[in-house]
Amino acid sequence: MAQPPQPKPARPTSAAALSPEPKIRVWDLFLRFSHWLLALSVTIALLSGFFGGLPKLWLHLIVGITALVVVVLRLTWGFTGPGSARFADFWPSPRAIMAHLAGRDGRHLGHNPLGALMVFALLGSVLALAISGALSLGGLYKIGPFAADGFALGSVAREAHEIFGFLILALIAAHLGGVLFESLRGKENLARAMVTGQKVGRPGDHAPMERQARMAMSLALGLILLVGGTLALVKLAKRPVDGLPVVTSSLVADECGACHMAYPASLLPKQAWQHLMAGLDDHFGEDASLAPETTVAISQWLAANAAESADTLPAHVFSNPDPMALGQITATPGWKALHHDIVAETFKRAPIFSQGNCQACHKDAEGGRFSPLALSIPSPKK
Ligand code: HEC
Ligand code: HEC
Repeated sequence: MAQPPQPKPARPTSAAALSPEPKIRVWDLFLRFSHWLLALSVTIALLSGFFGGLPKLWLHLIVGITALVVVVLRLTWGFTGPGSARFADFWPSPRAIMAHLAGRDGRHLGHNPLGALMVFALLGSVLALAISGALSLGGLYKIGPFAADGFALGSVAREAHEIFGFLILALIAAHLGGVLFESLRGKENLARAMVTGQKVGRPGDHAPMERQARMAMSLALGLILLVGGTLALVKLAKRPVDGLPVVTSSLVADECGACHMAYPASLLPKQAWQHLMAGLDDHFGEDASLAPETTVAISQWLAANAAESADTLPAHVFSNPDPMALGQITATPGWKALHHDIVAETFKRAPIFSQGNCQACHKDAEGGRFSPLALSIPSPKK
């Protein structure tokens, strides 16, 4: 009969004493807690990522950071936890995997070699998702530790983030399939064992290695990694960021903010501003003409601070305007693609009234940042 994996010999309770099959404590409390917290946070991250859109990004970030913290702590537990939590106990060598596939290795109380492979694949995917997600947030939106790292890198990271999202989805499906398969094959409920922590011992089982959890070591290591990691990220976040939009000049704010918000210069390329400024007498059906020297001063300021000088997402996305509607941000293919899912009625109702009223939904529109964390569609006003 297998030895109980935990250091303290299990004192048989009266129920266990009566039961013909000995219950063995396989999964410790932290392992079970981290497993289910990871399952929950990754599920919410996938749902909010694939279906929530940018207005749900805050939720996506909260659960994403939670998943990252769980993985970091699970990694420390892999070196400091009790036997069945130790990576050394279930390191999936090709030999062990082959033996398992061939059905030559008997029942594992801890992770079997294929399950172990899945553990590493899932932990690795969450790390890859966290890194690519943070790089996207920094590069595209100038938020967080990688804000200084440029739009181009952010775009690549965004693609990678999505690929990793599909990858982890596939891994989860395979994991559920594997758990179901092994449960049926071994006639035991493995999901329940991950809740109770217990399995019924059988003759010939592979018991996990006998190791006591090193609690003090574990706490110290976890704390060092989390605090050190946070400090390093804060330091990265403090780097100067290039290509942020400039504050709108007071002249432009006064003259161009009379009928609508003064659009930040970084929202359109130079050529579009020049076209718009040359036709102020017929400005979207209004006469917005100004004194010639004012027009020149505004034209020059807009050209100098146009999309070409910024590295923000709108500066890149709106930089190829529709040649038939130069000077109209809402006519650019990029703007249309971003707002594709919003029904036309939404733009007409109070307090939005028009597509060009960016700040109704983007609280930071006047500054030109357009952070997804400053984004919400206001509910209808009666
Ligand atoms: C007399 C009022 C008035 C003034 C002054 C004015 N505009 Fe406009 N502007 C409009 C109207 C009306 C529209 C069309 C709005 C719409 O279709 O929703 C518009 C639209 C725009 C748009 C396109 C917005 C979009 O929906 O893509 C830009 C860009 C713009 N104006 C820039 C400027 C600039 C730059 C100045 C200063 C030189 C300026 N406007 C001054 C009335 C004005
Ligand atoms: C009715 C509310 C609404 C208005 C008005 C609106 N937007 Fe948006 N915008 C959204 C929503 C919602 C999204 C996110 C779509 C998604 O989930 O991908 C978005 C996304 C964006 C994005 C990309 C995401 C980001 O945070 O950078 C940019 C840039 C943007 N809008 C610019 C503009 C500009 C410029 C205007 C004005 C000309 C404007 N929007 C007007 C609702 C609005």
